[in-house]
Amino acid sequence: MKKNLSVSTNNKLISSAIEYVRELFSGNSDGHGFDHAMRVYRNAVTIADGEECDATVVALAALLHDADDPKIFDTRDNANARTFLDDAGVGPETAERVIRAINSVSFSKNRGKTPETAEGRIVQDADRLDAIGAVGIARTFAYGGAHGRSLEESVKHFHEKLLLLKDMMNTETAKRLAADRHSFLKAFLRELEKETGEKQ
Ligand code: NI
Repeated sequence: MKKNLSVSTNNKLISSAIEYVRELFSGNSDGHGFDHAMRVYRNAVTIADGEECDATVVALAALLHDADDPKIFDTRDNANARTFLDDAGVGPETAERVIRAINSVSFSKNRGKTPETAEGRIVQDADRLDAIGAVGIARTFAYGGAHGRSLEESVKHFHEKLLLLKDMMNTETAKRLAADRHSFLKAFLRELEKETGEKQ
């Protein structure tokens, strides 16, 4: 049974989740948390289209996946995500599935293991896609700048992490999308090598 999606049927639920997340990350002056959540949401909707899954759970988990990120928020037991799910009245079963998907994507909670549910695997792919391609390059250097990293150190991150992500995708759609983004990373490194005259 293909249980797909409800992004359109649950439009009101999804738009209120978007507003909640926008508000939640508004203290983040660079708007990065919200922008990232929206890109992950869009990636997740695209991937969900080709998978058997509960697309409402996918959409909510994608939007809320960083809502309790310990690097940004000091919350316990997914309190921010739960506040939205309770207030929106999604029902305890859906709420638990959303929380489970979120926790399976969180590196601190799941240590990068493959999520057990389709919804978790989709959101993990969606999150990883946002780390590669043009967006991945922009994010790497934005992070590097904010943390005083040199160009070299940022490029090291490409080799240690970003170039490995293409082979870690769970779904066929994400594998396809990752291939293009991966080629773009490689092209960027080749161009950088040409311009700097140094092996990248
Ligand atoms: Ni994320």
